[in-house]
Amino acid sequence: MTRLCFVCLGNICRSPMAECVVRALADARGAGDRVHCESAGTAAYHVGDPPDRRTVAAAARHGVRVDGLGAHFTAARFDDFDLVLAMDRANLRDLQRIARGPEDLAKLRLFRSFDPRAPRDAEVDDPYYGDARGFEETYRVCRDAGEGLLDSLFPR
Ligand code: 4NP
Repeated sequence: MTRLCFVCLGNICRSPMAECVVRALADARGAGDRVHCESAGTAAYHVGDPPDRRTVAAAARHGVRVDGLGAHFTAARFDDFDLVLAMDRANLRDLQRIARGPEDLAKLRLFRSFDPRAPRDAEVDDPYYGDARGFEETYRVCRDAGEGLLDSLFPR
């Protein structure tokens, strides 16, 4: 079982989308029992909050249900995961700052680094202050990075 945690700032827009899209993609490949997916935020503003309804709506248009409640990523949580996938470079820096040592740091990646077609250092841009089109883009970016991530974990 590979344990994955997707991390953004608030854990209500991007990382719940990534978590639930990757879980659905793994299920579709028959690999659902080989990955454990969670998500969390580097900030604690939205602890206990449901996902943003624009994230829920965008994923639902593609048949993916997004649920879960906002959680804060604290340093101790590195112990619970094999890979910690940052949505953007600010998230990655924040995670690097709280890492307790080389073992924690070795678990960190930018999520889109798994998309072979994405440019170097590509990010999942924050859709929070935009409109529904931004959330549709978040879905597509998470799907493409998620397929790449699963290809790398479970080569076909
Ligand atoms: P997320 O988006 O990091 O993708 O969940 C955001 C959600 C909330 C805020 C910022 C970004 N906020 O400032 O409350």
